[in-house]
Amino acid sequence: MGRNTKSYIVAAIASVGGLLFGYDIGVMSNILIMDYFKAFFNNPTARDEGIIVSFLTLGCFFGSLISGQLCDRISRKRTIILGSFIFVCGSMVQGATTGRAMLVAGRFINGIAVGFLSQAVPTYQSELSSPEIRGRLISLQQWSITWGIFIAFWVAIATRKIQSNASWRISLYCQAIPAAILLFSMPFMPYSPRWLISKGRDEEGLKALAILRSGGDTSDALVIEEYEDIKHAIKLENEVSLKSYSELFVFPIRRRLTLGVLTQVLQQLTGINVIMYYAPAIFKQAGIGGNDAAALATGINGGINVLFTIPAILFVDRWGRRKTLIMGAIGCGLSYFILGLCIAIGGYNVIENGEKVVKMKNDGASYTAIVMVYTFVASFAISWGPVGWIYPAEIFPMAMRAKGTSITTAANWALNFIVGLISPVLMKSITWGLYMIFFAFMCIAVVTVYFFYPETKGRTLEQMEIIFRGSIWAVRDQKRIEDELAAASKSMA
Ligand code: BGC
Repeated sequence: MGRNTKSYIVAAIASVGGLLFGYDIGVMSNILIMDYFKAFFNNPTARDEGIIVSFLTLGCFFGSLISGQLCDRISRKRTIILGSFIFVCGSMVQGATTGRAMLVAGRFINGIAVGFLSQAVPTYQSELSSPEIRGRLISLQQWSITWGIFIAFWVAIATRKIQSNASWRISLYCQAIPAAILLFSMPFMPYSPRWLISKGRDEEGLKALAILRSGGDTSDALVIEEYEDIKHAIKLENEVSLKSYSELFVFPIRRRLTLGVLTQVLQQLTGINVIMYYAPAIFKQAGIGGNDAAALATGINGGINVLFTIPAILFVDRWGRRKTLIMGAIGCGLSYFILGLCIAIGGYNVIENGEKVVKMKNDGASYTAIVMVYTFVASFAISWGPVGWIYPAEIFPMAMRAKGTSITTAANWALNFIVGLISPVLMKSITWGLYMIFFAFMCIAVVTVYFFYPETKGRTLEQMEIIFRGSIWAVRDQKRIEDELAAASKSMA
């Protein structure tokens, strides 16, 4: 067994949390259009649909805010277990729903669970990884998210022709399966060694580290070195008594919180969920006729999302966070810019059922628009998808990590909610202008990452203190970071 094999296995099991996250994002758009679903809920209006969809995101927002406290008190591991238990309950409530209120309640319950998981899983993964594979291990959660979206889509395709309410209930019940797998496998996983040590449970922390790195050998030299580093950093943190939420808003932690929140906000401002929630509408605008064709185009989209996360898993620890985010923002921005141009030049408005609808004048513009949706998804999947979760999970000091990621994760869900709410309105009113807005956000992202984001690849979580204590102009601070890290490693030796 290789030195990191155990960490891979544990991180992969925890990342099933991402599957639940993705499934719940994907499931509704697929079943809202099913005939039996519509009939059962007396043809829900757009407003009703909005409520059903958005109560998940609302639950996620609150769930992630609560989760930080839980992670510190009951541990990262138990928060994941609790999240999966709540998810199983929520899925049962949804599957057995007798009416709209029960469905909305079920969505909210699952939202709370996804909030827990989206905060606790990357935190747990970051704390069990060795620095050279940390990006990769956290990317596994993103990969699971993409699989979740993809599977939700194909489950719905498989069941939608069933001539009964089972057509949509199966999709809702099915989500309990991965949740149950997570629920029953997590108890066998180790606690985060860093969490154990921060609670004064040093011996157990050392054992957990040894289980992850050296097949349980607590006398392994590298394990002891890592254990000492963690202990040393936690001791320093205790001396300056970093404990309460208010510390997050005080320099120097404030800088890390700002960058963590910005990462999540910008991840949502790539506009990924416009595509995730409304791709069928965009494909129809681009001239793909019929529900089946638009659904197929959406399925291909999901496949691209899964496939293009793989290079990130393989290479993000080599490329680094800065380069990956900058290249990703350029890819996303350009794709949306060209998509916007195609609609601006090649589109015209018609009124259908009293609503303004964009149609494309020619095949060239139409094909280019479709390709741009795909290049957009590929650019996101390889960059902001995974790094959006990696960066916030690795920049905080131990005592502030769970609290910090709970706020950064809540920022992700808040923006997800807002983008989901505003986009369909803007898609109708300013059509191509919406894509230009996202293009502008991506220009801002390139500049922000270039000037303000220090590189974190390959550094231990304990070294982040040195990386973030300098000037906010990260681009000018590289030399100091290198020097101080070299001096620190000499003094430890
Ligand atoms: C984002 C989600 C998005 C998903 C798509 C995640 O990283 O946070 O909002 O729907 O990626 O793959």
